[in-house]
Amino acid sequence: MAGAPIIFPRGREVVLGVSAGIAAYKSCDVLRRLQDHGFLVTVIPTESSLNFVGKATWQALSGRNVATSVWENSSDVSHVSIADKADLILIAPATADLISRLAQGRADDLLTTTVLASSAPVVIVPAMHPNMWLNAATIHNVNLLRQRGMKVLEPDTGRLTGKDSGIGRFPETARIINEVLEVTNSDAKLLNTKVLVTAGGTREPIDPVRYIGNRSSGRQGLAVAYEALRSGAEVTVIAGDTDYFELEGARVIKVQTADEMRDAVLAELPANHALVMAAAVADAKPNKGSIEKIKKDKLQQIDLTLNADILAQAGMMKKTGQVIVGFAAETSEDNLELAKEKMNRKKADFLYVNNVADGAIFGSGNTSGYLLSSDGGKEGFDAVDKHVVARAIVESISTRLEKVNG
Ligand code: CTP
Repeated sequence: MAGAPIIFPRGREVVLGVSAGIAAYKSCDVLRRLQDHGFLVTVIPTESSLNFVGKATWQALSGRNVATSVWENSSDVSHVSIADKADLILIAPATADLISRLAQGRADDLLTTTVLASSAPVVIVPAMHPNMWLNAATIHNVNLLRQRGMKVLEPDTGRLTGKDSGIGRFPETARIINEVLEVTNSDAKLLNTKVLVTAGGTREPIDPVRYIGNRSSGRQGLAVAYEALRSGAEVTVIAGDTDYFELEGARVIKVQTADEMRDAVLAELPANHALVMAAAVADAKPNKGSIEKIKKDKLQQIDLTLNADILAQAGMMKKTGQVIVGFAAETSEDNLELAKEKMNRKKADFLYVNNVADGAIFGSGNTSGYLLSSDGGKEGFDAVDKHVVARAIVESISTRLEKVNG
């Protein structure tokens, strides 16, 4: 269904600034771990840091273009667009020279210009020789940056690159990631977890130009996919008919009909820890689609056959340790009993029951309903953003996976 593009809320965009210290190579690991936690990373190295780690490496690891100067891709005004999009700027390693340039408010390359143009929180991970770290100029500059609200980590103490040892070592990746998680308030609950999500409606062809479909926009399923990605999951989306969307980091399989969706779900299910069946699968399809366009005088009657119930089939295939979430649409609270019965019959662990009494659910960003759990839980939502429900679903999946897998 055509419609407004689906735009996702912020929270995953990190700028990783890299300056010219030998610890630049350790930042490759930082980038990888950020991605594990569901962050999308744009790397901005300083020109001289490319002596340690080259552009090709950063491009390959981040999957994004890498520039050092504002004069590259200048038509995009990239320092402003990157600065606007960033939820966090992490500079690791930060040399004494970079810290000095930041303290002066300089804008002489893409990294410093981006920092100046952004209102995102900045975390700085210094790494340098102890004499440089303890130099009065550096101490003064670090204090200035801290006064301006930037978070400057204390370097580790230990062996340095040469024979010396002392304060100035680049910290362990885990410490840096913990800082990032604290500043961004995001929590990777679904690390090392594979989540399969279906979204949108299916189209059942009547003839080459007509089909049976529904008004689903795919927003709820895509919101679940986004929140799962944010929580560090590896996400596959099986998308039927949806509004236009971009979901960087997810694998997307496009399907049209309920049969195609069933084949894709059943093929992908064994490799996943969780399935969220948010798609609005057409309940029925024409007995036989016509290869030729049917003349209107022959359209009075279309014989239909019921489609297979994908959720129920997935429930039959479910192995111990897998979690399945289904959806239902009901028009009154009295039908919650029916919904519970549906959840049990289809062997789902959770069921989100949309209250569709007032009509507007399809295509809307908001939803009202209940998230039922097979162990008797019930959480209510009243006209909330679909991302709120998506977060609750991701939370429930993570808790249940922990419970069943120990
Ligand atoms: N579903 C499915 N395969 C179908 C139909 C539905 O997997 N052929 C899934 C949907 O993705 C959703 C749930 O089953 O997770 C909805 O079940 P359904 O029985 O269609 O619920 P309602 O929309 O509440 O429909 P009804 O009023 O017919 O009970």
